Amino acid sequence: MFRHIEPYPGDPILTLNESYFADPRSNKVNLSIGVYLNAAGKMPVMRAALKAEQAMFEHLGTRPYLPMEGDAGFRRTACELIFGADHVALQEERIASVQTLGGSGALKVGADFLKRYFPQAGIWVSDPTWDNHHGIFAGAGLPVGLYPYYDAASGGVDFAAMLDCLKRLPAGDIVLLHACCHNPTGADLSAAQWRALAVLMRERGLLAFFDMAYQGFGAGVDADAFAIRHFAEQGIALLVASSFSKNFSLYGERCGALNIVCADAKQAATVLGQLKAGIRRIYSSPPTHGARIVAAVLGSDELQAEWRAELETMRLRVAAMRQGLHEVLRQRCPQADIDYLKRQTGMFSFTGLSVQQVRRLREEHAVYLVDSGRICLAALTEENITVTADAMAQVMR
Ligand code: LMR
Repeated sequence: MFRHIEPYPGDPILTLNESYFADPRSNKVNLSIGVYLNAAGKMPVMRAALKAEQAMFEHLGTRPYLPMEGDAGFRRTACELIFGADHVALQEERIASVQTLGGSGALKVGADFLKRYFPQAGIWVSDPTWDNHHGIFAGAGLPVGLYPYYDAASGGVDFAAMLDCLKRLPAGDIVLLHACCHNPTGADLSAAQWRALAVLMRERGLLAFFDMAYQGFGAGVDADAFAIRHFAEQGIALLVASSFSKNFSLYGERCGALNIVCADAKQAATVLGQLKAGIRRIYSSPPTHGARIVAAVLGSDELQAEWRAELETMRLRVAAMRQGLHEVLRQRCPQADIDYLKRQTGMFSFTGLSVQQVRRLREEHAVYLVDSGRICLAALTEENITVTADAMAQVMR
């Protein structure tokens, strides 16, 4: 019966992460998956999240289903974190907001919604983008196109080429944008570029779909949401998929949100209804635990302040590791152009290493990067940074 089913070749990130754990070498370094580790190389349990969780355990009750749209406190506080509590779209109650199974779940619920209500639209993703964007959008039946983005020569964004492509798209097409910490390149737009893009998208009648999986790891919690807040102020129709995996260190809880900014409160209520219908068709309703932790932290001034402070130390640690890798590599390979590390931000950088070089890193040095050459700087520590730089230097020679 199942003979015609072809084997799964594996996922470029998740399967590689599994290979890392199966690798018996003790000196191995995992810079493949986008996960933040602390200075001791451990995944942190954030203090405010732990306090919220401990308080929850003191009042454990029954476990009813959450509504299809998720926990009310989570939806409100997650929306405030993205847009800012006093954003005009929030005040006017024109944001349809649902809790989702992580950022991927938000992308999937959004993709199904778009396919159903914009059946003619194509979606355009940056070249390159997170590999699973292709999987999720194509899987939902949307034609996926690429717009130029990364400029290998400068390690930044080829903004002119990006605009030139987007201005030719038919009205009603959808543009997937990384709100901050572009994955996989680490190359982000400047505020001025975001403003120029907003003008173009409004003029051309394009729909923006923001993916924000790394809020707090770029320039800071509020600064990272700048583009979303600005686009929403400009009256551009937009969707936001966001995740609490990284910034709350709640990976396995699968905690995310989809927010859709609508023209008015009535439209937002209608859109919310259809998002609920979509969720019911996939998994009925989301899980409770992670959302309650996030809601408790963001809903308390004290816990939120503690969470923000800890997240800021995490952000600064990644930036210091980025700087550190640059310094050691510069000593090892003075000739090599590694200044992309200084220009890019967030958890990732695009090393420009070839697949062969990445494989040598893995096979000869037990240093794991994804085949595209993306490096996750958030898993570097004082202990593994020199080993990593030495290994990179050897394959770069
Ligand atoms: C990544 O890009 O490494 C993370 O977003 C984890 C994932 O699901 O791919």
